[in-house]
Order: sequence, then C-alpha cells, then structure tokens
Amino acid sequence: MNRIPDRRPLIAPSLLSCDFACIAEEVHAIEEAGADLLHVDVMDGHFVPNITIGPLIVEAIKRHASRPLDVHLMISDPDRYLQAFRDAGADILTVHQETCAHLHRTVQGIHTLDIPAGVSINPATPVALLDDILGEIEMVLVMSVNPGFGGQRFIPRALEKIADLRARADKRGFEDLRIEVDGGVTRDNAGDLLRAGADILVSGSAVFRSGDYASYIEALRGA
Ligand code: DX5
Ligand code: ZN
Repeated sequence: MNRIPDRRPLIAPSLLSCDFACIAEEVHAIEEAGADLLHVDVMDGHFVPNITIGPLIVEAIKRHASRPLDVHLMISDPDRYLQAFRDAGADILTVHQETCAHLHRTVQGIHTLDIPAGVSINPATPVALLDDILGEIEMVLVMSVNPGFGGQRFIPRALEKIADLRARADKRGFEDLRIEVDGGVTRDNAGDLLRAGADILVSGSAVFRSGDYASYIEALRGA
C-alpha cells in the first residue's frame, strides 16, 4: 500500500502559496524545479478558520501535474469527502486525528480507495494518540503551526514530536512509515527536521516567495 515515492527526503511544496490565477504554470514550474510531491491544502472554514479549495480545483491541478498529489484535508467529517477527493486525483489522503471520531474506520475508507493514508496531528495533540493507528497508516503529518494559514512561524516542539514518532515507529518495526512535517518549514530549520526523523518536508511560503524555486528546493533537500 505504501506507494509514496521512496526517495528521502521528499520535498512537497504547498500550492497554498502559489499564484492561483496561474495555477497550471505554477504546477509546471514547481515540478520543473524538483518538487517530489504537490501538497494541496483543503480547508473548510469549520475545522480551520480559512476556506481554500475543493475537489473541482484538485481536479484542475491534476490535469497539469505529473507528481503525486498529497492532499491534506483540514476539514470536519472527512469521511464524507474521501471519494470525491480521490476521484479528483488525490494520490495520498491525509486526515486530522482531531476530526475523526472513528479514525480506524476513516483510514480503512482511504485504503478502500487504494491510496496511502496519512494522519495529521495539530501542535497540541500528543504523538501518543497515534499509537494504536501507527501500524495501519503510511504517513504521519506533524503540524508545526496551527493549521489554517501559510506563512506562520514554526513551533519548535515539532522537532521532539518527530523524534518521538520515529522512535515509536522504529521500535515496532514500522520502517515504511513516512513522517511529514508541515508549517513554517524553511531552509533554516530543514536540517534539524531531517535529523529528527522527518522524511517529507512541506514548504509553502518559503519556496514560493524565494524567487528561485529550484535553488530553494535544493537547499531544503540538502539541508
Ligand atoms: C497550513 C498548511 C500548510 C501551509 C504551509 O495550515 O497545512 O501546508 O501551506 O505553509 P508555510 O510553509 O508557509 O507555513
Ligand atoms: Zn498542509
């Protein structure tokens, strides 16, 4: 089931910070610059205060993308929309632990769609809450900001959470589990995040405001 590319680290620019008026050009440019995954932030104005994109826009992105779409669902009751986002072209679906009363069932629902499942935790959600789902999922997404907006400041506690998760996964033999980190990731903290055990770096505003996507992605990868 784990069809997330094996190269490590993977760089997943968040399209949230791209120019949405020129989304096709932005997708081509960021892929050309070396993006491994395209991170797509879906917000519903309910679980998080912001509203972003729905399946229609994911479908439009998909038409121009050659890299996998890493779809981060920051929405209440995600079960209602898994099929729609899969049909729109999601290659990985990540839900928030905080939104799922029956997380195991939600993960099964994603797997029924034949794609890898990720579970994300907010900054105030303890890693231990994932213990009983860790063996069932392909990815954990550690939020290093409170979800809802790009361009926020990195919360350093995420480093300890990543190291803790990596230790729990290693101890139980889940060497395929990928750890992704999202929020305030820059070339200045990327090295620490990779050393802590992150496999996938999401970066939005830092990449898209850099003026040189390729150099910035390379800096993240080599950090
Ligand atoms: C925040 C989103 C992030 C966001 C990251 O809720 O999940 O993916 O786009 O943006 P930066 O890198 O600017 O913090
Ligand atoms: Zn995200």
